[in-house]
Amino acid sequence: MNKETHVLERLPEGAAQDWTIPQDWDRYSQEDHNTWDTLFARQAKLLPGRASESYLRGLDVLKLSKPGIPDFEELSERLMKLTGWQVVAVPGLVPDAVFFDHMANRRFVAGNFIRRPDQLDYLQEPDVFHDVFGHVPMLADPVFADYLEAYGRGGLRALEHGSLKQLARLYWYTVEFGLVEEDAGLRIYGSGIVSSYSESRFALEDPSPNRIRFDMKRVMRTDYRIDDFQQNYFVIPGFEELLRQTVETDFAPLYAELATLPDIPIAEILPEDDVITHGTQAYAEAKAAGRTPEPA
Ligand code: PHE
Ligand code: FE
Repeated sequence: MNKETHVLERLPEGAAQDWTIPQDWDRYSQEDHNTWDTLFARQAKLLPGRASESYLRGLDVLKLSKPGIPDFEELSERLMKLTGWQVVAVPGLVPDAVFFDHMANRRFVAGNFIRRPDQLDYLQEPDVFHDVFGHVPMLADPVFADYLEAYGRGGLRALEHGSLKQLARLYWYTVEFGLVEEDAGLRIYGSGIVSSYSESRFALEDPSPNRIRFDMKRVMRTDYRIDDFQQNYFVIPGFEELLRQTVETDFAPLYAELATLPDIPIAEILPEDDVITHGTQAYAEAKAAGRTPEPA
C-alpha cells in the first residue's frame, strides 16, 4: 500500500531478473491460512452496501471466498481469462521502475507474506491480504484493468519527468483510497479502504474526513498521510470517466504546470472544490492533540 518505506535497493538473492519470486504457497502454515480466513470473514460482512459493485463482482468471479490464502497461479488463470492480468509475487517493495513495468504489462505485484494474528488491524507494509483482497478484485473489471495498465505506462513517463510525487498522489487517491458515486450512493473501491475493517466504515460514514468530487489536477497537488485514516477522500463519477480523463490527458504539460503550483495542505478545502462532505476533521484533530479518538 504505501511505497515510502523500505524499498528494496538491490535484486534479492533468489529473485528472478524481473524481481519476482515464487509464491511458495505450500509454505504457508495453517495459522497463515486462518489469518486470511478471519480477515476475509470480517470484510465480507462489511462490504455489501459499502463497496463498489465492480469490487464485489470481482470478489465473486475470482472466487476469493474460497478458504485459505489464494494460490497466485490459480488466481492468475481466472484473472487472465477475464482481463488479461496476472498476479506475481515479489519479496517486498520493489523499485518504482520495476513496479511500473510490471503494471504496464498487466502483472500486479503482490507481497506473499501474511500479517501475524496480532496485527489484524494495522500493518506498515502491504501483505498478501492487502494486495490480493484489496487490489485484485478491481482488476477483474475491464475498465479498471485498463486504467491500471495505463497508469503503469504513465509511471515510467513520470519517472522521466521527475514527477513521480504528483503521479503517486493520483494512485493514492484512486487505486488506494478512492470512492465512487454509484446509483445506490457513495461506495468505496480503494484497496486501502476495502482491506481495512475500520477505514471501510470511516471513509463512508465518519463526519471527520472531507469527501470531494475528483479533479485530476487538484488531486495531483494534494498531500496525503500514510500513517492513519485519510483526511480527504476523492469521489469519481465512475471508472469509465476516470480512465477517459487520465488516458486522454497528456501529463507532460500538466507536470510542467504542477511544478509551478504550490502543494495543497492535507485537509484544506478550496473555493473551487465540489464538496460532498465538508469534514469536521475531529478525528485527525483529536489524534494530533494526543487523544485517541474513537471513529464514529
Ligand atoms: N496520460 C498519462 C500521461 O500522459 C498516463 C496515465 C494514464 C497516467 C492513466 C495515469 C493513468 O503520462
Ligand atoms: Fe496497495
